[in-house]
Amino acid sequence: MNDPEQAHEQDWDELIAAARHARERAYAPWSGYTVGAALRAADGSVWAAGNVELWIPALGTCAERNAVTAALAAGHRRFAALAVVTSSSPPACPCGACRQVLLEFVPKGEELAILCVNEEGERLETRLSELLPRAFRLPEALGSRGR
Ligand code: THU
Repeated sequence: MNDPEQAHEQDWDELIAAARHARERAYAPWSGYTVGAALRAADGSVWAAGNVELWIPALGTCAERNAVTAALAAGHRRFAALAVVTSSSPPACPCGACRQVLLEFVPKGEELAILCVNEEGERLETRLSELLPRAFRLPEALGSRGR
């Protein structure tokens, strides 16, 4: 593990495997579209979840937000990487709402690396600042009013 590139690849492999496993346990009987998401917390631990759909569609939750909730429940509030697994081609990226939720737990000046993959092996590598430019941050918004 002296090669940093190799270590990076193995990090993604672990996150993808966790997201894939979580996707198998997603509960999406209404759309049939399952999503698995896995987050790496700042301490290296991995937190994964699938999407959940309910009879009241608005009450459903995305895999990414469920992964955030799982991590928060275990005491983790800072994330470095996210893997998302879907059946989409090209691989689907986190929705707009999830981007804003993820931002809350990525300190300013840090970056969330994101890898979106599908079961065919297509990979789309991006980062939160690319998916959510000019993001809303409450501390900054308050600061701009001099508070
Ligand atoms: N979904 C996610 O889990 N993550 C996303 O980023 C996009 C959409 C879920 C929500 C719903 O259960 C299904 O995919 C179809 O929208």
